[in-house]
Amino acid sequence: MTRSTLPQRLLQAVLLCLCTAYTNALTLDTTSADSIREVSSQVAYGLMKWYTGNHTGDVPGNLPAPYYWWEAGAMFGEMVEYWYYTGDTTYNAEVKQALLHQVGDNNDYMPANQTKSLGNDDQVFWAFAAMTAAEVGFEDPPEGSPSWLSLAQAVFNEQTDRWDTASCGGGLRWQIYSFNVGYNYKNAISNGGLFHLAARLGRYTGNQTYIDWANKVWDWYEDSALWDAKDYKILDGASTTTNCSQGSQEQWSYTYGVFLAGFAYMYNHTENDIWLNRIDGMLNTTTATFFPANMGPNIMVETTCEPLGNCNNDQKSFKAHLAQWMAVTAQLAPKYHDRIFDLLAPSAKGAAGQCDGGSDGMTCGKRWNSTVWDGTYGVGEQMSALGVIQTNMINVVSLKPPYTSVSGGTSKSDPNAGTGSSGTSSSNGQAIVLSTITLGDRAGAGAITAVIILFTLCGTAWLLIA
Ligand SMILES: *[C@@H]1O[C@H](CO)[C@@H](O)[C@H](O)[C@H]1NC(C)=O
Ligand SMILES: *[C@@H]1O[C@H](CO)[C@@H](O)[C@H](O)[C@H]1NC(C)=O
Ligand SMILES: *[C@@H]1O[C@H](CO)[C@@H](O)[C@H](O)[C@H]1NC(C)=O
Ligand SMILES: *[C@@H]1O[C@H](CO)[C@@H](O)[C@H](O)[C@H]1NC(C)=O
Ligand SMILES: *[C@@H]1O[C@H](CO)[C@@H](O)[C@H](O)[C@H]1NC(C)=O
Ligand SMILES: *[C@@H]1O[C@H](CO)[C@@H](O)[C@H](O)[C@H]1NC(C)=O
Ligand SMILES: *[C@@H]1O[C@H](CO)[C@@H](O)[C@H](O)[C@H]1NC(C)=O
Repeated sequence: MTRSTLPQRLLQAVLLCLCTAYTNALTLDTTSADSIREVSSQVAYGLMKWYTGNHTGDVPGNLPAPYYWWEAGAMFGEMVEYWYYTGDTTYNAEVKQALLHQVGDNNDYMPANQTKSLGNDDQVFWAFAAMTAAEVGFEDPPEGSPSWLSLAQAVFNEQTDRWDTASCGGGLRWQIYSFNVGYNYKNAISNGGLFHLAARLGRYTGNQTYIDWANKVWDWYEDSALWDAKDYKILDGASTTTNCSQGSQEQWSYTYGVFLAGFAYMYNHTENDIWLNRIDGMLNTTTATFFPANMGPNIMVETTCEPLGNCNNDQKSFKAHLAQWMAVTAQLAPKYHDRIFDLLAPSAKGAAGQCDGGSDGMTCGKRWNSTVWDGTYGVGEQMSALGVIQTNMINVVSLKPPYTSVSGGTSKSDPNAGTGSSGTSSSNGQAIVLSTITLGDRAGAGAITAVIILFTLCGTAWLLIA
């Protein structure tokens, strides 16, 4: 991971402080395509301001510390969607460069710089971005580069190879390597990620192998301690050391989203009502859990941490994914369109109302139930706001739903992508020469803390002056 240096960061902070504050509240009309485009464009600009990977000497595809690699993948996936929803090509070249720079030597989103700390969920978010690029017809990679589809296939092949029956009767572990904390954890986002990716590959290619895998992952998940069937509730994960006898209770919006959309892809492909019923149940709990009546109404909230104000950088971005995956569910299971946009439209309006903060007057906070900027800012806040705002496009204009290979998708298939590389379980990473994680890797965190303190001081000063 590359880090901006402390002086660079401090300079940025000071510059922000010096700028005069002005307010420029974004009013979103969720019934107007022009309004959604305009507001999305401002929020996307604010998001891409965080990205320095396209600067000379920096590494394309990385976000500066403290943001982890996975979040960059998620961000570029969202920027592919940004183009899809709005038609704005401003960032396409950078996004494409980023998505291709990080493919790694085996074209499987396991770049050497990230491998030692890579989890299955990290890898799959980059695969989602590539899959989205295939599904929305994003500009193809140049000759000699892997196709978007093959990148997603490579990740699928490697992750299915890591399917582990030694404990818990199956499932994917969170981490890929045994020396990483979390190797003993089988969790919702990793297994949901594989399920979701398999469902999308199945629908796109029509290849039954992917559909079989999606069924296999869901069948395991449904019987595991990671699922509470009675309440349609996702449990975050369980430990292999106790054979997954008990699931942990934390609730995270993106785990619901990843399964919800996976159900929708399966439904759309199989047209089997069993998936429709699962969508229904998952929407029930998603609504009850993440659109709490006493904080809205109909406003998305990252319930576990947002009211307490202690979401970490990863968690701050989760609402972006729930929004996107609810939107794709509306496309693939139109029966639920209205129900979904009854939630996404007010949430988008709320999110836009939070985007008048910071010294630029257009920085987004995260509490969407108030039009007074909550003082927070960051990649997660921008991503979440952009996610929920831009998805509203499909509520006002008709956009082509995600392609399949027979409905317009042209990304080339390579069913054998990723096989035989070090990313598969046969080597399980043992063959990779790993440098130990040094203090240097963590150094960025101290610098960013200093900046955060500075920002807080600036914010406070600004409030006092204002
Ligand atoms: C890098 O990206 C930013 C944000 O999109 C853009 O303003 C800038 O022009 C880009 N820089 C280069 C060197 O492409
Ligand atoms: C890996 O990290 C190094 C050091 O930051 C950087 O110079 C190099 O370009 C990175 N490699 C890739 C493929 O991103
Ligand atoms: C572990 O759990 C699986 C699935 O529930 C079960 O089939 C298996 O017998 C259990 N193994 C042990 C050693 O208890
Ligand atoms: C979702 O909630 C509705 C209304 O309470 C209920 O009728 C329906 O059965 C629920 N769906 C599932 C799958 O539990
Ligand atoms: C808005 O949400 C926060 C939690 O994020 C909550 O504490 C507050 O009471 C809510 N305000 C309203 C007006 O619902
Ligand atoms: C599958 O998705 C397409 C595209 O949105 C939609 O027209 C079609 O009705 C969906 N199929 C079903 C069974 O709902
Ligand atoms: C379907 O996918 C499987 C698994 O990747 C692959 O082995 C098989 O060759 C694929 N079939 C076709 C027709 O592409």
